[in-house]
Amino acid sequence: MRSEEVYEKLKQWVEDNRSHTMLGAPAQYIPALANQDRDQLGICIMDIDGDTYKAGESDVTFTLQSISKIISFVALCHFKGLDFVLDKVDVEPTGESFNSIIPFEIHRPGKPFNPLINAGAITVASMLPGDTVSEKYERFILFVEGMIGHSLELDQEVYESEWKTAHRNRALAYYLKESNLLDLDVEEALDIYIRLCAICISLEDLAKIGLVIAHDGYDPIEERQIFSHDVARIAKVLMVTCGMYNSSGKFAAHVGIPAKSGVSGGILASVPPKWHSPEKAFRKGCGIAVFSPAIDANGNSAAGTMLLRQISEEWDFSIF
Ligand code: DON
Repeated sequence: MRSEEVYEKLKQWVEDNRSHTMLGAPAQYIPALANQDRDQLGICIMDIDGDTYKAGESDVTFTLQSISKIISFVALCHFKGLDFVLDKVDVEPTGESFNSIIPFEIHRPGKPFNPLINAGAITVASMLPGDTVSEKYERFILFVEGMIGHSLELDQEVYESEWKTAHRNRALAYYLKESNLLDLDVEEALDIYIRLCAICISLEDLAKIGLVIAHDGYDPIEERQIFSHDVARIAKVLMVTCGMYNSSGKFAAHVGIPAKSGVSGGILASVPPKWHSPEKAFRKGCGIAVFSPAIDANGNSAAGTMLLRQISEEWDFSIF
């Protein structure tokens, strides 16, 4: 498919899906996110040559929020090995909301159900290499910066806003501490977790990360393996089964792409190669990032999800 055609289609589909922003609202429980402009919708797709295709409000930056969870999972597996990580956190969906305390009290699982719910992500963040919060943050950010090729900033306002209002996450962290699932004190574990959530990212950077996951940890642009195929495989499993929380089943059915959402309105998606579809766009795989701050009841960008659905249907991106 010619580049102009790709641009035209993306532009059209962004406009087709803009009205879906009305089906959600910016996250209210983190005050600094509540005032985001709800009408925005932007997308960036990156192909294996590093060419990007953008439409809508595509030059925005926003905080990673839960998208950081799949990256911290990958980073921890890369640094400490898959066995170490899977010993601390499971790979099962919960059927509860991302910040629920219910699994701890009802099921008493012994370890968090998966690394993409808050409990699992707090555990993972606390176990990143390094003795202090600053060291752990530094190791993480260098890992991500190595993947995207430039430095990243923390959004201090979002960080402070979440720090002051993280009552539920604090409660979760106490449960984790009781079960010996934190490598740090409660306040320190929360600190590193909230820092990762508050890292500022562009759509282009997110699309690059999606591209590397789609290619099993290999960066096709720089031609180097960043993390192992095994880690990428489990990351994609988690994205499909838990990445969109309680909409993961519907997302798999209607979109069918490994993806991870965040409450600031971003979605990271990884489209693996589909070599047997030569007539389709992006048959060698791509990374996709969308942003639209109005989120639905499950914490996923409302218009972003619908835009991905249309793109996947039109270009046959589903892995199923
Ligand atoms: O801990 C929280 O609640 C947020 N920092 C992140 C949650 C989130 O992004 C869930 N996503 N859809």
